[in-house]
Order: sequence, then structure tokens, then C-alpha cells
Amino acid sequence: MPDLFSPFTLKGVTLRNRIVMSPMTMYSSHDGEMDDYHVSYLGARASGGFGLIFPEQIAITPDGRTTTECAGIWSDDQIDGHRRVTDIIKRFGAVPAIQLGHTGRKGSEVAPHKSYPGFPGNSQLPADHPNGWQCIAPSAIPYGGDHSWPVHELTVDEIKALHRKYADAARRALDAGYQWLEMHFAHGYLGAEFFSPIANHRTDQYGGSLENRARFHLEALDAVREVWPDEYPLTMRLGADDLNPAGTQFDDSLVAIGWMKEHGLDLADISLGFNTDEMIDPPMGREAFMVEKTNRVRTQLQIPVGTSWNLGIPETADQVIRDELVDLVFLGRPALSNPHWPVWAARELGHPTPFELVPDDWRWWLENFRGYDASIGLPPAAEPSARLRSA
Ligand SMILES: Cc1cc2nc3c(=O)[nH]c(=O)nc-3n(C[C@H](O)[C@H](O)[C@H](O)COP(=O)(O)O)c2cc1C
Repeated sequence: MPDLFSPFTLKGVTLRNRIVMSPMTMYSSHDGEMDDYHVSYLGARASGGFGLIFPEQIAITPDGRTTTECAGIWSDDQIDGHRRVTDIIKRFGAVPAIQLGHTGRKGSEVAPHKSYPGFPGNSQLPADHPNGWQCIAPSAIPYGGDHSWPVHELTVDEIKALHRKYADAARRALDAGYQWLEMHFAHGYLGAEFFSPIANHRTDQYGGSLENRARFHLEALDAVREVWPDEYPLTMRLGADDLNPAGTQFDDSLVAIGWMKEHGLDLADISLGFNTDEMIDPPMGREAFMVEKTNRVRTQLQIPVGTSWNLGIPETADQVIRDELVDLVFLGRPALSNPHWPVWAARELGHPTPFELVPDDWRWWLENFRGYDASIGLPPAAEPSARLRSA
């Protein structure tokens, strides 16, 4: 039976454990580039023991960012910055992953912790603002609320051009040293918009029926699979439910993920659609709320799965792996609050050798150089737990 610290192999890639640093937009790039900021905080999570590490949603075009401070990979000039990130992640024993995305009608935003005169954090800027741009979407329907500026409806030629941008971005990601590629089709961004009847009112081959609403995704996967090597996982994060009767329905997502599997998808990372604020019974306050639906994808479609959302308590994260409900646990906020979450969790769970997750030189000191139990700055470890495999 696997546990949180069991290795996980997908295609030609083996992760040292089941703990994933979930993609998180950091609003800290200049010209879409990765720099010392990203090397530093991602390196810290790699030396803290995460198995798979995502930086943030990486935009395939400049207008695919959330804000002008977000990272991208639309130009060869950006490859060097990404290579620095993948180098540090690999150096500390984790696998570097990239999440490719386009924000669609939810772009042109103000970062949550910032504001511009007249535009508070998280609001959307109009196209004529120096930090804004014209947003695109499947249909000319703005998200609503403080995201109500006019949206450009994509033509079929523009959709095809975006698929080529995905492929170009994937080729650059490979050059930069990433070994795992996730397509971002969730959280109200472009892929989620095509999938949801709330955002997609098209009457051509990209709208209407489920088959048509999934076409954008299948063509994007096909375009990427052509340049992304077969030995490296190709995965996606799907907004599998809008929690609204007019939006994406989970049962439709199950069908579409089956099609994606036929188009080369290796793992499904299940999340919410976020195509509307009008969600029925939003589960944000519930622990592990995405696990049950994610497990349905695993059992019904026989495809490896992962999910995030409120999995930061070590016992919970470990249990969902032991019960074989999911294959990978994605941690967002817990990875921000504790760069050494995996080491901490290993100690909390009584793992016999928690410090095997940190670099070898630190490990030696932390295991051997102890004047008294707490001299390493941590309380004594939990008793080895029968719940964990012994070394
Ligand atoms: C600061 C921040 C930025 C995020 N940016 C992204 C992103 O770029 N792509 C994405 O798919 N999810 C993003 N998310 C969502 C997380 O990846 C994760 O799914 C969510 O926080 C739930 O996991 P948690 O309960 O462990 O925090 C972000 C979350 C946070 C807190």
C-alpha cells in the first residue's frame, strides 16, 4: 500500500514522494521572466522535500497572463530564466513541472495585494490602461462584477493560432528542462471557459455540444503531444464542476477526461471551474473537498489523478494516498506557509528518516549533531507510527 512518501512513477519520470507543490501565481515577474525571486523560493521548496514542483501558471502569450507581473514562456528569451528554475529544482532532488495556460476573459487584472487609482486588487483593468489589455474568450461575454470590460470573441483562425502557441510554449518548456507538463484548463481561464456553457455560447464547432466544448482541449493536447516527448507526463488541471446548474457539470467532465486520455493525457488534476461567482454550496471551508470527485475520475476512467484543496494536514494527505483515493496530493497554501512541509509532515507522521528529504549535508548534521533533543530547532519527532512503512 503506498503512503505519502512512496515514490510515484509516471511514464519515464519518478517522483521521490506523492507531494506536489501546486502551481501558484506569484505576480513577481518582469517581462514575464523568471529570476532570482523564483529560483530562491522554488529552490527552498525543492530542498524542503517536495516531489514535484510547479512554479505558477506560465502564460503562452502576453495576454494570457493574469497581470503584467505574471510569468510567461511566449519567447525564446524567457527560456534562460526557466532553466535556472529547473536546474535548482533538480539539484535538490525534485522534478520540475510547468503549467501552461491562458487566462482568457479573466486576464488584465490587478494583483491581489496591489491597486491602481480606481482599481483595487483583483479587479480587472480596461484595455486602454497601461497595465491592462484586451481580453479574449470563446464568446464576447465578460465574467461579470468587476470583470466586465468588453471581451473579444476568438475567431476559428485565432483558436488554431493559440494551439500553435501551446506547442511553441511546450517546445520551450522542454528546452528549459521541465520534465512534466500540465495544461491549465481550470479556474475560469481560457480552457475552463471553452468547457463551460456559462462562458461559451459559440454556435460553431467549438461550442454547443459537449464534444464541441471539449474540442479546444483535445486540439491543444494534440498540438502539445507532438512536441512533448512521450517519456514525460502530459497532464491537465480541469475545472470539472462549476457548481451551478447552468455551468460545467461533473458528469460531462468525466466523459471529456476519457476523450483526453485517448488524446495522450497521462494524469488528471481535478479542480473547480470558477466560471461564475454563483456557486451552489461552495465547499471552500471543507477539508479535502475535491477528493471524492477526483477518485471517481480515477476509478471510472482508470487514469492516475491528483487534486489540491485543503489537504495540508499531514494525516489527511497521507490517508488519501493510503486509501488509494488519489495518486498525488497538490499543496498550494501549505507550500507557501512552510517550504519544508514534507519534512515537517514526515516528522509529524513518525517517518523513520524524515531528513532524507533534505540535501545530504544538512541531513548529516540534523541527524547526528545534537547536543540535546531540540537543538535542531524542532521538537522531538513523533514516535514512529505503525501507519507508516518502516525504512
Ligand atoms: C497565491 C495563489 C496563486 C495560485 N495560482 C494558481 C495558478 O497559477 N494555477 C493554478 O492552477 N492554481 C493556482 N492557485 C490554486 C492552487 O494551485 C491550489 O489549487 C489551491 O490553492 C488549493 O490548494 P490549497 O488548499 O492547498 O491551497 C493559486 C493559489 C494561491 C494561493
